[in-house]
Amino acid sequence: MARLSVNVDHVATVRQARLIQEPDPVTAAALAELAGCHGIIVHLREDRRHIQDRDVDILRRTVTTKLNLEMAAVVEMVEIARRIKPDMSCLVPEKREELTTEGGLDVVGQHKHIENTVRTLTEAGIMVSLFVDADKDQIQASKDVGADFIEIHTGHYADARTQKEEDTEFKKILAGISQAASLGLRVNVGHGLNYRNTQRLVLISEIEEYSIGHSIIARAVLVGIERAVREMLEILQ
Ligand code: PXP
Repeated sequence: MARLSVNVDHVATVRQARLIQEPDPVTAAALAELAGCHGIIVHLREDRRHIQDRDVDILRRTVTTKLNLEMAAVVEMVEIARRIKPDMSCLVPEKREELTTEGGLDVVGQHKHIENTVRTLTEAGIMVSLFVDADKDQIQASKDVGADFIEIHTGHYADARTQKEEDTEFKKILAGISQAASLGLRVNVGHGLNYRNTQRLVLISEIEEYSIGHSIIARAVLVGIERAVREMLEILQ
């Protein structure tokens, strides 16, 4: 069975909407672990829009599965990773104006920089994954710069508007995964995966881990709402 790592960024998004203490992504991470997930993922963005430094510090001490720190390949984040020592760092491209990570990392275009970043993190004992599109040049470059893993960007597949478009994106993912496997790269997948589109991927045995955030947090809000309302009504009664 492939592993599930739960991204708790959007618990922090709700907290930051009020700039108070709850809901705490650290508590959410503990509950996700109690439910059996295999890892916790947080993206510490340069603009700190959701996850905060304090979250990463505490999670490093409390996560009992694996902690994956998603981050841009910039000096500030590399220093934080070297200090915190997550089990894995997933390098992602980051733009301030984006709502979420929009595309894969351009490993081809930033070959030297990514190679140096991978080396620095690896020397600190951190496994490195590169978030890339299912593109053959990017996958080859990921191997060349010394990454342990790639995380194939499934956002285009998830965003497909028609069955034909979805089939095309699915085939690109399949080709990317088999290329990566033949190069000896280990493969994770993530972005935009939900309770429907994940079902098609589970047949691909090379996928080691699913990185899923938004759909799980969104579902948690809905499946939890009845209980939350009942508990408030009990107080009012
Ligand atoms: N993988 C990467 C590299 C991401 O940037 C994100 C979003 O933070 C995810 C996975 C999770 O995507 P989603 O929240 O759509 O499940």
